[in-house]
Amino acid sequence: MLKRSVRAAAGIAALAVGFLSFVPSLLFTVVAPSSFEAAQGMQSSPSSNQQTESKANQIPITPPPMGWSSWNSFSNTVDSNVIMQQTKALVSSGMKKAGYQYVNIDEGWWLGERDQSGNILVDAKQWPALQPGEQPGDMSNIVRFIHGLGLKAGIYTDAGEAGCSFYGPDLGPPILHTGSEGHYDQDFLKFAQWGFDYVKVDWCGGNKENLDPAAQYAEIAHAIHRAEKITGHRLYFSICDWGNNSPWTWAPGVGGIAADIWRTSGDIVAPIVANTPNSSRSASFAGVLSNFDQGIHPQAQHTGFYNDPDMMVVGMQGLSDAQNRVHMSLWAISGAPLIVGADLSKLSKATIEILTNPDVIAVDQNLLGIQAIKVDEPLPGLQVWSKPLATPGGHAVLLLNRTSAPAKIEVSWNEIGLDSSASATVRNLWAGKELGSYSSTYTATIPASDAALLVIHGTDAKATRYEAASSANELSGGATPEPCETCPSGRSITIGGERSLTFKIAPLKRSTFVQIHYINRSTSPHTTQLSVDGQMPTDILFPPTGGGDEVGSITIEVESKQAGSESTLAFSSPGVTGPAFESISLLAGAH
Ligand code: GLA
Repeated sequence: MLKRSVRAAAGIAALAVGFLSFVPSLLFTVVAPSSFEAAQGMQSSPSSNQQTESKANQIPITPPPMGWSSWNSFSNTVDSNVIMQQTKALVSSGMKKAGYQYVNIDEGWWLGERDQSGNILVDAKQWPALQPGEQPGDMSNIVRFIHGLGLKAGIYTDAGEAGCSFYGPDLGPPILHTGSEGHYDQDFLKFAQWGFDYVKVDWCGGNKENLDPAAQYAEIAHAIHRAEKITGHRLYFSICDWGNNSPWTWAPGVGGIAADIWRTSGDIVAPIVANTPNSSRSASFAGVLSNFDQGIHPQAQHTGFYNDPDMMVVGMQGLSDAQNRVHMSLWAISGAPLIVGADLSKLSKATIEILTNPDVIAVDQNLLGIQAIKVDEPLPGLQVWSKPLATPGGHAVLLLNRTSAPAKIEVSWNEIGLDSSASATVRNLWAGKELGSYSSTYTATIPASDAALLVIHGTDAKATRYEAASSANELSGGATPEPCETCPSGRSITIGGERSLTFKIAPLKRSTFVQIHYINRSTSPHTTQLSVDGQMPTDILFPPTGGGDEVGSITIEVESKQAGSESTLAFSSPGVTGPAFESISLLAGAH
């Protein structure tokens, strides 16, 4: 069976080519010091399984999507003219060049009608022919327009029979039957045949019908997968249950196929549509902060799966430029999807500069694909958030002042995983300035309700390394140490089918970023389950590491709820081929 992960491989390979050009440090591999464990032979306790640090050959991860959605500024007044205008503005504003790619048509595109065979019928006036030879009422017309400008197209439906425009219509009367329930195969195939590249699946109907989200979205994942197989066309899958059913615990592997992103909260703002009764609504900064907080589930965000705190409201009524900068900083440090909700034809110069700041976008799109964690909050509301970047020694840091008075916030090298005996350079991304070299800490005065987004480059503190083939670990189902010439330890453990590997490590007392060093010689990612200290497993994709035996690395975040005298990281790939593990490195830092 062609798994969803297989399709991800092509994207990852393409990204590897695209991004390596500006991440030169990814091009070299620093091999770990030779293993003292191998020299000493058998190990028996978690602590004796520890090794010194290894630097990694980071495998680039598919970054979060960037684009625009029609909902926040057009609600269900969306039509062909709106989409053409916004698509053009995405290009002329410079946003396309900055990386924004998707033009997503949200609710309001369909009035719930089907023909006798159940095929979706769309309003021919709303979606007319745009060129000679096209038929009115055919959504492939607008897709062709979007693709013609070098962009990708997104569409929207609901998991239930009736969608949000029936249960909670925004503008206009309630509309029945705008969901896909009962028509999953037919609708997702149609979306792919129309040429759409992205589908958002809402939960208004699913919610009202008391459907089970994990089961329902699994069916949808299968329908999307079948549509992709038939058409050969990738449909990026966005789940929208507003975080009600903890999708971060099941969406990365939903249906054994996986969703790409999942909403973690409700809408930041109800639509603000010019010249309608909705025109006086405002976005609020409190709403932005609340969605950011609800979006933090770092243990689920890895290897191409993303928490989605909602479309951004940057540039919409109600936020100042300073607040827009903080908003963009919060989404960037989270590695969140950057889907803009503002009317692109009316963006101010300041808003365009905020949305297209290349340093800030690079923090969001960083090839580790992980989410920041809060490393310090010395006083309520004074927070330090950080995540490691793909470049060795690079860390993105957000100093966030949520209080109503200016305050000093300090970040220490120690808490973000840098060697505190070495100096590090600090760059302020919004100021576009190198601030110089500092030893062990950096402190800034942050205005009330404001933030500073920094990239700090220093020397990574030593990670704690555990070899896969250590006898402290537990092997089952026939997994066994095998020789590995390219492995610093000389040995690896392949899992998959019945074979599994459980690392036994010192107790996890804090949130920890973990690099996994592995080999995947195939051309598609291996889907593997990880359970930390017996908790519910998460699905991790191990992308190909190249044809040969070169060891590659991905980074994830782990947390334990019940660390005892040791912690366990149990990897398995039931029924399928899995990767060969060389070792794991627990990164330093007071997370
Ligand atoms: C829900 C979603 C929004 C939008 C609307 C459309 O509220 O969360 O993002 O798609 O439905 O009705």
